[in-house]
Amino acid sequence: MSSPTAPGLPPGLPPEARPAVELEAARRHYAMGDTVVRALDGVSFRIGRGERVAIMGPSGSGKSTCMNLIGCLDRPTGGRVLLDGVDTAGLRDDELAALRNRVIGFVFQQFHLLPRLDIARNVEIPLFYAGVRPAERRRRALAALERVGLADRARHRPAELSGGQRQRAAIARALVASPAVLLADEPTGALDSATGRTVLGLFDEINAAGTTVILVTHDPEVGRSCPRVIRLRDGLLEEA
Ligand SMILES: Nc1ncnc2c1ncn2[C@@H]1O[C@H](COP(=O)(O)OP(=O)(O)O)[C@@H](O)[C@H]1O
Ligand SMILES: [Mg+2]
Repeated sequence: MSSPTAPGLPPGLPPEARPAVELEAARRHYAMGDTVVRALDGVSFRIGRGERVAIMGPSGSGKSTCMNLIGCLDRPTGGRVLLDGVDTAGLRDDELAALRNRVIGFVFQQFHLLPRLDIARNVEIPLFYAGVRPAERRRRALAALERVGLADRARHRPAELSGGQRQRAAIARALVASPAVLLADEPTGALDSATGRTVLGLFDEINAAGTTVILVTHDPEVGRSCPRVIRLRDGLLEEA
């Protein structure tokens, strides 16, 4: 029996053997007038399913560029980026968005919760875009809030929560559609260090339950919380 494979995969490779993320000599160059900024200049690595990885490097090293490629917010100008075995270069915009919605949950430094919606409605947003019906959206949002210890805050607005609670709400939103990969950009950057540690503990729990976790950071403490560090410098891979 042959298993169905996505375009660009070797035939017969079962889904569970696909890396969650694969970069092959990935480049992202920006044309700036007469000069070219080599934000990423030929970077290769794989992140397997279920890994917990920090992508680190100093300011300007290419971390956000790398995150945008992994998160299907951008495409490489050279080389290949594969997400769940799918080569993002070959996809139309709507296909790229569909892949992003299926595979990735995003967490941002500044939470990006909508201030006029209560926490439960904020958490429901990815399910709204996925076309899930209201009662089911509410049920799954409350389950995600339960997971992050915020079930009793469902009816509160973001302004009524502490920074740590807001980030936990944002993590519930990232988890609610059951993505294979949780991708976080400086997730503790806006938190004090004790609260940051609590949030890192939550990523550990989420990872232990099977979700691939990728934390993009310049914070050494976040790096130490991960078994593997991918290090960038000047758009090149320094350590993988
Ligand atoms: N849209 C853009 N246009 C031009 N240059 C960019 C753009 N985005 C990033 N860069 C440049 O690419 C390099 C890497 O940026 P970035 O990925 O944001 O690094 P980091 O997140 O590690 O600070 C920097 O030199 C930055 O100035
Ligand atoms: Mg950055």
